[in-house]
Amino acid sequence: MSVHVQNSRMTTAKLRQMKANGEKVAMLTSYDFTLASLVDEAGIDILLVGDSASNVVCGNQTTLPITVDEMIFLTKGVVRAAQHALVVCDMPFGSYQISEEEAVRNAIKILKESGCDAVKLEGGEEILPAIRHMIQSGVPVMGHLGLTPQSVNQFGGYGLRAKEEAEAAKLLHDAKLLDEAGCFSIVLEKIPAVLAAQVTKAVSCPVIGIGAGNGCDGQVLVLHDMLGLNQGFKPKFLRHFAKLAETVKGAASEYIAAVKDSSFPNAEESY
Ligand code: KIV
Repeated sequence: MSVHVQNSRMTTAKLRQMKANGEKVAMLTSYDFTLASLVDEAGIDILLVGDSASNVVCGNQTTLPITVDEMIFLTKGVVRAAQHALVVCDMPFGSYQISEEEAVRNAIKILKESGCDAVKLEGGEEILPAIRHMIQSGVPVMGHLGLTPQSVNQFGGYGLRAKEEAEAAKLLHDAKLLDEAGCFSIVLEKIPAVLAAQVTKAVSCPVIGIGAGNGCDGQVLVLHDMLGLNQGFKPKFLRHFAKLAETVKGAASEYIAAVKDSSFPNAEESY
């Protein structure tokens, strides 16, 4: 008996085909079943359970504290929601840097326990052995270059990366290595648009930009940021596609007032 089901879900092969056809890839982060269901229904290509969950879900200052088990917990809900999108889970800080073996063990654990389709890792040549080993083990890998937030303490902040020639050359070199190793896609974060376009042309896999201009094969944003839920955060690259902070606060204020003046619940809202 075959349990193989033909489905219309996004695959890494379809993403490569999109690049070949010049069709842009739309990716958003997601951390829970309810919002992931809405974004999936809207037709998103990739749902990324980003380690930005450490900031937007857990309230940490950086992405560093979130753990493998916390990422798996969040990813399970997103996987249950995804009828169409490819689901990618970020490998958190410390889960792939220590040794190749540990990296592969954690990647396999994430795939097996969360049910996601692929993992994402930050870095280039220095983590290439781990990436190669993962891909050889059957784990689809998305790379991430440029501003890699897990290295914030090394960078000393979240500023634009690869402005200088040496760093730009290393980034291009790293992107080619990730592509040759078999990464199915690469995220480029907060780098000059000209460099991002050059990398996009130089590699065979789809390149997804965030703060990397319009010359990439696709774009990604943090869901809470693009929905305007995160009021204090408005970098130049971010567009607010909604103003949900105002909507949520307005609804909460109305609810509080209705409870306090006893107008909620009314007779029709009671049994
Ligand atoms: O964790 C995250 O949200 C990310 C995106 C910014 C690409 O890595």
